[in-house]
Amino acid sequence: MSEKVGANAQGASLRTLERGFTIWLTGPSGAGKTVLAHALKKKLKGMGYRVEILDGDVIRKTLYPNLGFSKEAREMHNRIVIHMAKLLSRNGVITIVSLISPYRAVREYARKEIGNFIEVYVYAPLEVRIQRDPKGLYAKAIRGEIKGLTGYDGVYEEPESPEVKVDSSKMTPEEEVEAVLSKARELGYL
Ligand code: ADX
Repeated sequence: MSEKVGANAQGASLRTLERGFTIWLTGPSGAGKTVLAHALKKKLKGMGYRVEILDGDVIRKTLYPNLGFSKEAREMHNRIVIHMAKLLSRNGVITIVSLISPYRAVREYARKEIGNFIEVYVYAPLEVRIQRDPKGLYAKAIRGEIKGLTGYDGVYEEPESPEVKVDSSKMTPEEEVEAVLSKARELGYL
């Protein structure tokens, strides 16, 4: 950890890390990536750090809404997010990536490219994801209206040795945040 401490206009202390890191949230739709991403952002901002969320859904809608979900499309999209995370991370920003990122090889590439990296497997059992179904995607998949939904009839390659695994059906967002931050401290990123 190497950081400068300053102050913002309100006098709250602002901390600038010389080198940031990336918290990579992977998991299927409805597992709880978005909730954890925002809880992490709130906590880290409150501690005075510079934080950015890179959300797969938002990046898709902003840059290429018609890209689709083939293996090639997902890989290209994931590589773009990796590049963004690398640039932000190395400039002292704590970068939270919220991206299904279903392929192990792509996540391994992310780890190599980005360097300071915490892979977080955001898990919830299928029944729980189907119950939550915030975007109605599981309902559509069950009715056969969409094909290849990750974690239902689409591939999701589970992480083999993530730095952190959280189970959002058993843990509160606060507990998940603590698990991630204690790993960040243990690795010397904070
Ligand atoms: S990734 O697979 O390319 O890494 P990303 O996180 O950017 O995924 O986007 C996933 C979002 O796209 C989901 O949250 C969901 O809203 C939407 N989506 C639409 N169709 C699918 C599908 N077949 N599989 C997964 N997500 C889908």
